[in-house]
Amino acid sequence: MALPQRVKIVEVGPRDGLQNEKEFVPTQTKVELVNRLAAAGFPNVETTSFVSPKWVPQMGDAADVMAGIERRRGTIYSVLTPNMRGLDGAIAARAGEIVIFGAASEAFSQKNINCSIAESIERFVPVAKAAKDQGLRVRGSISCAFGCPYQGDVPIASVVDVVERFKALACDEIDIADTIGVGTADHVRRVFEAVTRVFPRERLSGHFHDTYGQALANIYAALQEGIEIYHASVAGLGGCPYAKGATGNVATEDVLYLMDGLGIRTGIDLAQVVEIGDFISTAIGRPNVSRAGKALLAKARSQQIDCA
Ligand code: HMG
Ligand code: MG
Repeated sequence: MALPQRVKIVEVGPRDGLQNEKEFVPTQTKVELVNRLAAAGFPNVETTSFVSPKWVPQMGDAADVMAGIERRRGTIYSVLTPNMRGLDGAIAARAGEIVIFGAASEAFSQKNINCSIAESIERFVPVAKAAKDQGLRVRGSISCAFGCPYQGDVPIASVVDVVERFKALACDEIDIADTIGVGTADHVRRVFEAVTRVFPRERLSGHFHDTYGQALANIYAALQEGIEIYHASVAGLGGCPYAKGATGNVATEDVLYLMDGLGIRTGIDLAQVVEIGDFISTAIGRPNVSRAGKALLAKARSQQIDCA
């Protein structure tokens, strides 16, 4: 299959990236991060989560973050909502898209949202319906689609099953997530081959964590399956509090560099994203793990010195 000519990159750093930080990141830093990402051209910024602050304390300032950001025309600000309480928060905060998040693994579902897969879907029914009634976009995210830290292997049939359940909830988009970054290219190809039989290809996304260094190869495999939406985290921020040892999402700078090289349009300014990666890594005192980001930053800084 020919590679797509254009892809949508969903920046998930402010949510997936920061949720795992032990030290509380000041609300103003989160707000600046979201504003700068939107200004760099991301059509969709996953901004925060309306979840229990006991479960994920870092997202406890969700309402304040949403109240503090500028709203750019053309940018969708997404938030995670595990239940009706989360949805109420999302509506009050004027989110543009809500994310209901389930798993293809029973064990991970219990650890992450404290219920079975079937119970989670029941819980999502009123959330998705009320969100639609309010005119919000609804995205369904499927964790552990390529492997689970508790269960091990995850059958492709389990992923397809959750895709079908999310489809029945009228999800606009469905994320196929490699929460612990264990997938490899051929596995990715087989999973997308299976899920595209039951849900439109152009509304599926690849959400890859880079724990085993496979994320870019996996994105390339998904591109070959015609997938047009990818999630990434600036500076490779992140990890999942309920998946020990999992590292961040694939770094956005690396994905943009890949897409630029392939001539695939994103509408996003890579140079700006490189600066944002430096800003947030410095602000939270964490190494920037984007290879392209660090290389481009070094090049930009050396050119500034040459010109001085
Ligand atoms: P629970 O303990 O079973 O539920 O948690 P509960 O209803 O008994 O509530 C417990 C407490 O939380 C109560 O407070 C509720 O009021 C409160 P208390 O009475 O003890 O003072 N509460 C809330 N507070 C704020 N906002 C809410 C909310 N709901 C309840 N919406 C629950 C169940 C789902 C709430 C909990 O398990 C939870 O919040 N989990 C969130 C887990 C999470 O955010 N994980 C990370 C995101 S998923 C991810 O990263 C994967 C992804 O990136 C894709 C991938 O890579 O795989 C998406
Ligand atoms: Mg994730």
